Amino acid sequence: MTLTRPRPDPVDIPESVWASNQLSSFIARIAEEHGPIFEFRPRGGPHAGQPVVYMVGPQANRFVLLSGREHFSHDQGWTPVIGETLGHGLLNMDPPQHTLHRALMNPAFTSVFMAGYLPLMQRVIAERTAEWVQHDTIDLMVEAREITFDVAAAALVGLRSGPEVDWLRERFYVLLRGGDPGTYDENWDELVRRQLHARDDLQVKLLELIAARRSTAAVAQDDVLGMLVRAHDEAGNRLSDEQLLAHVNILLVAGHETTTTLGAWVLYVLGEQPECAARIRAELTSVVGDGPLTSDSLHRLPFLSAVIRETGRLHSPVLLLPRGVLSDFEFAGRWVEVGTPVFLAIAAGHRMPSVWDDPERFDPERFLPPREEDRRTPYGLATFGGGPRICLGINFAQLEVMALVAHVQRHYTVRHVSKEPVREFGGLLPMLPDGMRVRVTGG
Ligand code: HEM
Repeated sequence: MTLTRPRPDPVDIPESVWASNQLSSFIARIAEEHGPIFEFRPRGGPHAGQPVVYMVGPQANRFVLLSGREHFSHDQGWTPVIGETLGHGLLNMDPPQHTLHRALMNPAFTSVFMAGYLPLMQRVIAERTAEWVQHDTIDLMVEAREITFDVAAAALVGLRSGPEVDWLRERFYVLLRGGDPGTYDENWDELVRRQLHARDDLQVKLLELIAARRSTAAVAQDDVLGMLVRAHDEAGNRLSDEQLLAHVNILLVAGHETTTTLGAWVLYVLGEQPECAARIRAELTSVVGDGPLTSDSLHRLPFLSAVIRETGRLHSPVLLLPRGVLSDFEFAGRWVEVGTPVFLAIAAGHRMPSVWDDPERFDPERFLPPREEDRRTPYGLATFGGGPRICLGINFAQLEVMALVAHVQRHYTVRHVSKEPVREFGGLLPMLPDGMRVRVTGG
């Protein structure tokens, strides 16, 4: 007797939904009606037209990120998506190599270590926001990208804002997006060619920085690259130039694009939620007064923290987590075979009505007592992933977004001048081709 192993059912997503800001909500509805695992053929990207398994919701998050994680490969998932251009950094490594490298990098990303970067973050934020009021309108995505890249370049590789950092930012943007917003649908080969060019430029510059660090390795460097150059395992093994380069590439990309999206969305959302903005101001006045923001005071701002979590739920900077399948597995009664591409649809899981009350509504209170909806369903919120591979930069990102929003709310008022930006094109990251236009006034 041969036992049949049921496979995930195929589903279709209409063209009109694919390139719209309804995609995650649509996938959430399929998951509610159909179960948390199904097969779909994406309309774009490296898997265009091929069957891909989508997994959605808290149980799927827990299985992929924790209990069943040995079935999945980050290398086979991420490398085809980000291309070979970035090398193999932490994001697209598998164990046992990943376990060793993560242990080397963890100390540089603890919340205590990150708190040391707050003055640097505040300096960049104050400098970059100071001119906002002089413009009729600004694009929050462009502005947030400049802030987060300046902070990442200083904290990770020790470069001060200026033409050199601007040059790096432009090349990383090409590496990640191909250069222009909205180029997702264009020829994949042309995109890769442009990315390789940017990668070569960057490689030369970053190897110079690594060489400089090695020659001064005896002198303590308080940036992450300095720590990585000095890091070694128990046997005294150190990271090679190639490994350092791949880590720095991934850190600079992962460290600024996602933080850009989250920071810009929080400010944008507050532009249409004046009562939330007023409550954040009141919280800041009562906790910080007129004094400087400290990492201690940032930890005593529960409403601001809830607003950031709620924005990360509704507008996740990463929509899908890609995985390769290393060994056959069963999930929710369906079998998936080795070699199948899998997407864990974290942003869609954030919109499931069986998990969140009125999920389409912006409602930061859901994260505060007595509701605490995230505690009700562990692994429901996965903005930063979860399990042992949870985002390495979570403390860094949360500190930076809090510092940005706190600064802007203390000094400025933000108002919308554009409709809600389109945010999805079926890719892993949201696309905002029209940016986020706002008008900023003092006070
Ligand atoms: C709002 C900002 C951010 C968001 C939403 C975010 C989201 C994520 C997510 C969802 C993952 C899990 C990927 C997976 O499981 O496949 C991840 C991993 C990672 N993130 Fe972040 N991230 C952010 C900021 C940062 C920053 C600031 C850095 C570094 C400075 C960073 C570095 C990394 C690295 C290295 C990994 C791979 C970790 C591993 O696999 O061990 N991220 N991030």
